[in-house]
Amino acid sequence: MNLLFDSIATGLAEQDFAITDQFLSQPEVEAIVALPEFQADRTSFKKAGISKQVQVKEEIRGDYIQWLDKATAPGAVTVYLKRLDDLIRYLNRNLFLSLKDVEAHFTVYPPGTFYKRHLDQFKQDDHRKLSVICYLNNDWKPEHGGELRLYLPGRTRDVLPEAGRLVCFRSDRIEHEVLPATRERLSITGWMLDKEKFLV
Ligand code: OGA
Ligand code: MN
Repeated sequence: MNLLFDSIATGLAEQDFAITDQFLSQPEVEAIVALPEFQADRTSFKKAGISKQVQVKEEIRGDYIQWLDKATAPGAVTVYLKRLDDLIRYLNRNLFLSLKDVEAHFTVYPPGTFYKRHLDQFKQDDHRKLSVICYLNNDWKPEHGGELRLYLPGRTRDVLPEAGRLVCFRSDRIEHEVLPATRERLSITGWMLDKEKFLV
C-alpha cells in the first residue's frame, strides 16, 4: 500500500491530482458490488442534489447516491473506508496536511446521465479538501463513455471509471465533469475533510 500512497502523495504535490489503479483489488471491488445496496436496493438511492439544500437539477447532474455511515457500513465497505483513513494519515505526514475525516457515498449514474463541469468546493467555508472517487466497474471500455474529465491548466485529462481505480484531487482547485455513459456507472465518491464529520 505504501507505494500506492506514495504515488498519490506525489501526484497531489506536483499536479493537484493523482490517478491510481488497484487501490481496491478485484475481489475487494466484487465484494462491494455484491452488496444488497448495489444488487437489489438501488431504487432506494436518492437523487443527488447540487448543494446542501438538496436541490435536484437534472440538467446539471443525474446520479443517485446513498451516504455511508462508518459505524454501520458493511465489512466490504469498511475495508475501503479504513484504507482511506490510512491514506489520510499518510498524506498528513508526508504533505503536512491536517485532514481529519472522510465522508463518502455510493454513487450510481444510470446510462445517459452526467454531471456538468463543477468544483466540489464552492463555498469559502467548505471543509472538503480532497475529492476521492473509487470506481467499481469491471471491463469498462472507451466506447462506454462515462469518463471523468479533469480540467487542468491548458488541457483536459479523461479518466475511465475502471474497477479499483482511485482518483484523488484538490477539491478547491480542479474543475471536473462526468460524461454520459452507455452503461450504468458505479463508484464510491468521498471527500477528505479538515474537520471531523460529526463535530460542527
Ligand atoms: C462528484 C463527482 C466524479 C465521478 O460526485 O462530485 O464529480 O467521476 N464525481 O464520479
Ligand atoms: Mn465533483
